[in-house]
Amino acid sequence: MSRKTPSKSERYFTTGLAMITSRGNNGPDVMAAEWVMQISYHPVLIGAFIHEGSQTLKNIERTKEFGINVASQDQTTGVNIAGGYSGTELDKLKIKSIFKLIKPQKIKTPLIADCTINVECKLVKKQKLGDHVMIVGKVVDIRHDESKRPLIYHKGRYFGLGSAIEQDRVKVNVHKDMLEFFKNIAREKFVVKCVGVVVESKKKILVIQGSKTALEMIPFSIPSPGINQRDHLIKFLKHMKLELRVEDIPIMKRLILKNGKNIQRVNFVLFKGTIQKSAKITKWKSPTDNSLISSLI
Ligand SMILES: Cc1cc2nc3c(=O)[nH]c(=O)nc-3n(C[C@H](O)[C@H](O)[C@H](O)COP(=O)(O)O)c2cc1C
Repeated sequence: MSRKTPSKSERYFTTGLAMITSRGNNGPDVMAAEWVMQISYHPVLIGAFIHEGSQTLKNIERTKEFGINVASQDQTTGVNIAGGYSGTELDKLKIKSIFKLIKPQKIKTPLIADCTINVECKLVKKQKLGDHVMIVGKVVDIRHDESKRPLIYHKGRYFGLGSAIEQDRVKVNVHKDMLEFFKNIAREKFVVKCVGVVVESKKKILVIQGSKTALEMIPFSIPSPGINQRDHLIKFLKHMKLELRVEDIPIMKRLILKNGKNIQRVNFVLFKGTIQKSAKITKWKSPTDNSLISSLI
């Protein structure tokens, strides 16, 4: 029994393609599957959605294990055959010169050579959802081949991976101390996420001096993950005894701070601020004096 033909909109999703290997009474089988993805880091889990008429599902129910072989661009023929015939119709893995099998490490089901990723899974969950069955596998072995390029599936056709999209971040050359400051905060993190307030008056910008550095910057802080950015900023300003009214429309500035070859990605969520009557604020800076401040306004 095969799957229904998807509508045009359903075909508009873009996925990778896997070949799922399994073991039946009459030997191993392979099916093509677009609906496969990693769904947890700890433990590493892979989810796949398989129609009830497939031989693969029966095999996995029996052996409680399967292989996920993520297809490379050289494997369109294999994917077509794995998806075009059922194991009940044909011993697909025995067809001459199509599939090269490799030995598994931790399971008994063979894997397919020349893929971008090979994963060995033990079944941990099975649940019927609509007209497919979700199977979740705990990964017991995983390896990848960087020389292979992944195959992409879109509108019922196969594609290769295009070029990487250039990040739309604004590059700002900054002093090495400034870069060092953000790099220290980032440690291993890809992006430092700051929240700050921009107060403008007579073409000047309100600045404060950082507590740990001599750097003059707009008032900003780095909230812990999950904390509301504006609430954190308001608390921070109170703590700094800065009596500012903070507007509630966030402005997002995504920057790459640079000094020579050294870079650090930094996001600033900014709110416009106005000074409350009683505040005694004296430090103002012309934005043109500082490349980072001028990139924030
Ligand atoms: C490109 C492509 C993607 C497919 N994706 C899925 C999928 O995600 N889930 C599914 O149940 N069937 C999918 N199929 C259909 C199965 O691969 C097909 O029914 C196959 O014959 C089942 O083989 P088996 O009976 O040997 O298990 C896909 C087919 C193709 C060609």
